[in-house]
Parts: sequence; C-alpha cells; structure tokens
Amino acid sequence: MSDRVKEVVPDLIYAIRSTLKKHGVTFEEYGAAMQYLIRVQETGEAPLFVDAFFNATIVEIDNETRKGTQADIQGPYYLNSEAYQIISERLPHRPIDENAQDMVIRGQITDTDGNPLAGAELDIWHSTPDGLYSGVHDGIDAKYCRGRVITDAQGRYSVKSKLPVPYQIPNQGPTGELLEQHLGRHSWRPAHIHFWVRADGRRDLINQAYFENGEWVGDDCCETDHLDLVVPELIENGARVMEVSFALDPVLVVAAE
Ligand code: DHB
Ligand code: FE
Repeated sequence: MSDRVKEVVPDLIYAIRSTLKKHGVTFEEYGAAMQYLIRVQETGEAPLFVDAFFNATIVEIDNETRKGTQADIQGPYYLNSEAYQIISERLPHRPIDENAQDMVIRGQITDTDGNPLAGAELDIWHSTPDGLYSGVHDGIDAKYCRGRVITDAQGRYSVKSKLPVPYQIPNQGPTGELLEQHLGRHSWRPAHIHFWVRADGRRDLINQAYFENGEWVGDDCCETDHLDLVVPELIENGARVMEVSFALDPVLVVAAE
C-alpha cells in the first residue's frame, strides 16, 4: 500500500493545487472549504460524501478489467453476510407491505463463455416499498427485503419480493447541500435492486438492476451511468418481473512482481 500512496497521493495533491491556482482561490474561500470538510466530519457524513462523489469512479476502474457483467456501486446498506438467510421462494417483507406491488427477480448466472454456474450465491437487498432499508432505517428488522439465493443445476434462480421505489440519499447535511445547492444536482437514486454474486473460481460481482422507464434512471445522484442492467418492463400475473442474468469473470490473477 505505501508504494501506491507514494504513486497516487502526490498526483492528487498536485491536481488540487493546480485547480486552486486555475481559479485564483482566496484565503476566504480556502477557509470556507476547510469549514465544509470539518462539517462533513462532524456530521458523520464522510462515508456518504466519498460514496456520493467518488465510488462510481472506482467502479469504473474495476470494470475496465471485466469482460462479463459490469459492476455497480455497493451502496452503504449491505450490512454483513450474517444478515442474509438462504431463501427458496420469497424475500421476507413487513406485514404492512402485504398489499404492495409484487415483484419476481429471476435469471441465470453463467461464466463469460455462457456456461451455467450451479451453486452460485446471490445476496439480494433492496428498499421497502416506502423507500427504507431494513437494519438501517426506522428500526425495521434486518431480515426484511434481504436474502441469499443459490442457483440450480442450470445456474438459474428465482425469488419473489415487493417492488422498491426511488430512494433519496440523506440530503439534510453538507453532502446534500453541495449536491443540491452548489452543484445544481439532486439527491435521488432510481429504484434499484442490489446484488452481490459469488461463485467458486469467479470474481465477485456487486451490482444493481434498475427498472426501465423508472424515474431517475440515467440521472442518478450517485452517477451510476453505465447502467448495464436496466431491465425491460415485463408483468406476469400482476407481478413486475426483473430478469437479471450475470456473466461472471474468472478470478483476477494479479501478476507477481
Ligand atoms: C446510498 C443509498 C443507497 O441505497 C445506494 O444504493 C447508494 C447510496 C446513500 O445513501 O448514499
Ligand atoms: Fe440502494
């Protein structure tokens, strides 16, 4: 790591210095920027701040070495592996969501040559039908809208759940202020389903599926603009079907120095 720090950090500092020079930044503006950073720290928004502005860039870099399905940002609400019970039919939903719109998430996991991967694991998580994350917001039990599914002999999986909605990232603090007041943006993400896919000998894939024609698709505050998985609208028996298939790259072999 320390060699990488020596490689990357001087460039980073140089890029900031040259931006300050280009714009003739004053002492007053420099002080305001410092106060802003202190507020990011004091409000506990450091993870939100770096996620909102830089996470998608790291994902883009990661994707340069993928031939299969592209990765997407993880977001802050995966929790941990223990939050995922193996599900055979339906992700648990709160009793109050019983009448919310049904959704089926199904698809196939293959390698990059199209061979099915049996026994692959998908951790799936998404917001409740009113835009909250279990285990994070409003004391909602962490078991809701989360689960782990395992692919069958054909690499297929299918699970029912309830439809999520667009999600507004916290916008009351300094991150929202920068996005909305200074950058002229907004703080909304399109409705989405998160996936973390694992299979033996394959590179882990963290990504998200979006709903074609959904609000904010293509205009995500987190700038996930590669949108590999915008799923066409398909309704079966009143349920929105999300056909989401994944082609997993082989494990990345890092050349020995
Ligand atoms: C945030 C929330 C999400 O659900 C997500 O997918 C990405 C980011 C956030 O609050 O920053
Ligand atoms: Fe999310």
